[in-house]
Amino acid sequence: MRLEVDIRSKSYTSANGKRQEVISGISFTLERGELGVVVGPSGCGKSTMMRILAGLDSNYEGRVSQPAGARLAMVFQEPRLLPWRSVEDNVRLAAPDVAEDRLAAIFGVLELEAHRSHFPGELSLGLARRVALARAFAVEPDFLILDEPLASLDDVLAARLRDEIATLVASRPMITLLVTHSMDDAARLGDRIFLLSSRPARLLRAMPITVPRAERGEETVAAIRADLARRDFSMS
Ligand SMILES: Nc1ncnc2c1ncn2[C@@H]1O[C@H](COP(=O)(O)OP(=O)(O)OP(=O)(O)O)[C@@H](O)[C@H]1O
Ligand SMILES: [Mg+2]
Repeated sequence: MRLEVDIRSKSYTSANGKRQEVISGISFTLERGELGVVVGPSGCGKSTMMRILAGLDSNYEGRVSQPAGARLAMVFQEPRLLPWRSVEDNVRLAAPDVAEDRLAAIFGVLELEAHRSHFPGELSLGLARRVALARAFAVEPDFLILDEPLASLDDVLAARLRDEIATLVASRPMITLLVTHSMDDAARLGDRIFLLSSRPARLLRAMPITVPRAERGEETVAAIRADLARRDFSMS
């Protein structure tokens, strides 16, 4: 199971009829068990790339081979919940076979237990993001795409959820892609970090992190961050 990405070009035609290139060359592969972190300036084309990798947009030049037979879960940059369904139903619709104890564990970890019967319109953005994460976790994916999942959460909660993402990734051999503007998240979670240029996005660097995730203490994380800064990954 591997993800093979070779996007040569992706353009949008804007409302005034002008064509605008958004991606101009991104190729890499990710193996089973690997977590790739994508960083790059706002508006460079990261979410566009994630939609292509998820198979939601086939209007580009190049080729993407999704991992064969993989179950995909995606946390979009916007939570994208069904507004007429409760929190619990939003999760159950995506993961109809999820066991009650697993669902309870996920809601517990994400502090959503009290919100099970609420509707998306009753949630703050941070809560809605957590529901989107709960939905992705419940699916037990093989291929997980996370587009800035920890944005708009307070630091303490973001750190806890980052640990939960690490736990999920450790629990099964997935291919994971995480988009973030946080060098801290990148240093703590990534196996490889992909730095994109400003629009149109090109892959500028791919930096491997060799220390296993579970063995990264504070000193190691600081050293990785310093290394990222030296190599021009310090854009946020
Ligand atoms: N459907 C669309 N039609 C036209 N242009 C689009 C469309 N979607 C995105 N764009 C443009 O493509 C560029 C890249 O957008 P994208 O959302 O991929 O950026 P991003 O890297 O995810 O940014 P951010 O970090 O702010 O989330 C932007 O200039 C955006 O305006
Ligand atoms: Mg985006």
